[in-house]
Amino acid sequence: MGWWVYLLRCGDGTLYTGSTGDVDRRAAAHASGRGAKYTRGRGPVEVVYREECPDKGAALRREAAIKKLRRSEKLKIIAEYAERRRNMKRAAFIGTGNMGAPLVRAACAALGPEQVVVANRTRAKADQLAAELGCGAAEDNRSAAAQAEVVFLCVKPQMLRAVAEELAPALGAGQTVVSIAAGLTLGTIRGWLAGAAGAPALVRVMPNTPAAIGRGMLALTAEEGTPEARIRAVEAMLAPAGRVERIAEGQMDAFSAVAGCGPAFVYLFLEALADGGVAAGLPRQQAMTYAAQMALGAAAMVLESGKHPGQLKDEVCSPGGSTIAGVAALERNGFRSAAIQAVEAAYHRNEELGRV
Ligand SMILES: NC(=O)c1ccc[n+]([C@@H]2O[C@H](COP(=O)([O-])OP(=O)(O)OC[C@H]3O[C@@H](n4cnc5c(N)ncnc54)[C@H](OP(=O)(O)O)[C@@H]3O)[C@@H](O)[C@H]2O)c1
Repeated sequence: MGWWVYLLRCGDGTLYTGSTGDVDRRAAAHASGRGAKYTRGRGPVEVVYREECPDKGAALRREAAIKKLRRSEKLKIIAEYAERRRNMKRAAFIGTGNMGAPLVRAACAALGPEQVVVANRTRAKADQLAAELGCGAAEDNRSAAAQAEVVFLCVKPQMLRAVAEELAPALGAGQTVVSIAAGLTLGTIRGWLAGAAGAPALVRVMPNTPAAIGRGMLALTAEEGTPEARIRAVEAMLAPAGRVERIAEGQMDAFSAVAGCGPAFVYLFLEALADGGVAAGLPRQQAMTYAAQMALGAAAMVLESGKHPGQLKDEVCSPGGSTIAGVAALERNGFRSAAIQAVEAAYHRNEELGRV
């Protein structure tokens, strides 16, 4: 991946065919007169066609084939390319459910809604989201995928194989596929994309539901050799959803157990704290607000102070005071052990889901 064939239109109207690992840098070299003898003195130059090839050898072969074409044939592929570019969106989302919809919102914020298209099994759901955000809604999955640079697959893990195999013929080397499915590895998904016309880049992202309000914790991992620019493009599209960090694929299931499933564990804890507040005499709504705002502040303290949570806990506990009495009650009831086991159970389930 990462080798390109390109066509330049020179200032005098002549066409130049070349291949390179970085079209924009090469075009700049041509423009400055250091690109090739042919383009020297024929500026300004404009890139009018680019095609990504799997490797350097394939790019050289394609370059030789294009060089043999008549001018009229070259103009035809340039015109077709321009037409494709005109219709091309930056991002397509297949699946607009609980996790897909927040990411669509993020991409619309990052790129502008006119650069985003969505498709969903129940069409009305995609239409509703598109109407709300001002993005496009496609007739079907394939037409959405065919018109986007980055295709996000946001269906349940058990649906992913069918969707990937359905989309593969509509995908090419110039595109990037992003899976958000828990558990499914890059290798497994790559196998399902085998029917693609050209191999798209492949990235896995694990988001969590707070992405819906821009406070998500998202992890990203990409296949080895994925061009940096492709990864950066995906990161930029997701940035409005929250914090995005790159991790090794081997850490993905553990990340998902902590950050993907974690919100449910925290909600359980917040509900229980509010129950305790109600038992102690607070109205339910007030108890809920106090518990949630407290958790927000405590989480920010961990992130912003850089202190270990144990130290922050010690700073709240005065000798013989009420907090240490509460901490002791949590310990008696195996609170920390329960939290550890929750993450471990989620991790093992992620592993199971990934065994397809
Ligand atoms: N929820 C989370 O907290 C979370 C966190 C991290 C990762 N994830 C991952 O996110 C993915 C989606 O999960 P979710 O919670 O968003 O599930 P969801 O709410 O059920 O959404 C899945 C969406 O995919 C659509 N869909 C199903 N089959 C389709 C097909 N063949 N073509 C087009 N659309 C199709 C469904 O359409 P209908 O409207 O017809 O049902 C639904 O809108 C999963 O792979 C999951 O592992 C979820």
